[in-house]
Amino acid sequence: MPQSWSFFRTAVKNFRSTGAIASSSKALVKKLIEPLPADRPLRIVELGPGDGCVTRAILDRVNAESHVTAFEINTTFIDVLHQIEDERLSVLPVGAEQLREYFEENSVDYVVSSLPLSMIPKEVKLEILRQAQWVLKPGGQFFQYQYALQDYSLLKDYFGRVSVSFTMANLPPAFIYSCIG
Ligand SMILES: C[S@@+](CC[C@H](N)C(=O)[O-])C[C@H]1O[C@@H](n2cnc3c(N)ncnc32)[C@H](O)[C@@H]1O
Repeated sequence: MPQSWSFFRTAVKNFRSTGAIASSSKALVKKLIEPLPADRPLRIVELGPGDGCVTRAILDRVNAESHVTAFEINTTFIDVLHQIEDERLSVLPVGAEQLREYFEENSVDYVVSSLPLSMIPKEVKLEILRQAQWVLKPGGQFFQYQYALQDYSLLKDYFGRVSVSFTMANLPPAFIYSCIG
């Protein structure tokens, strides 16, 4: 089955937690992760990897000594993620709101999130952002995309500096937040 069709089926069945019907385009993924440096080992957390389109791109880009820990709650997607054969990847079948149970304060270089922020209950969303900010090293960065700018001001409450870019090359077009802790 083509990967896009399988994403569509899983996403429609779980629309409230997925918040999309198609996985991110190559152009969006490229823009989301292009600030990741490839010349040093990084500790990266990925939130909401889904079918792994962002995960694979991160693994392709980063240094051989880097490590990616992916938090995903959908069991169908977790099975897909387990098919990625890369020792640098750990898949946790755990919600992003439990981040702090797996990482210490100031221990992560980058958090890359595809979470459907606008669909997540406010108190859970606040907890996730608080924990993401807490695990990041000083100067660490949080990347997130969103189809409208609903959570821009919320992100500004949690991160010192938030910049936004945009791509039309996704269905729907998307904003990309880049936040420094
Ligand atoms: C829009 S999809 C993103 C999939 C893929 N990364 C992409 O960009 O196409 C959002 C993903 O977030 C996951 N998700 C939703 N709430 C979550 C939570 N609290 N913790 C971890 N993953 C969550 C969903 O199961 C889904 O796989």
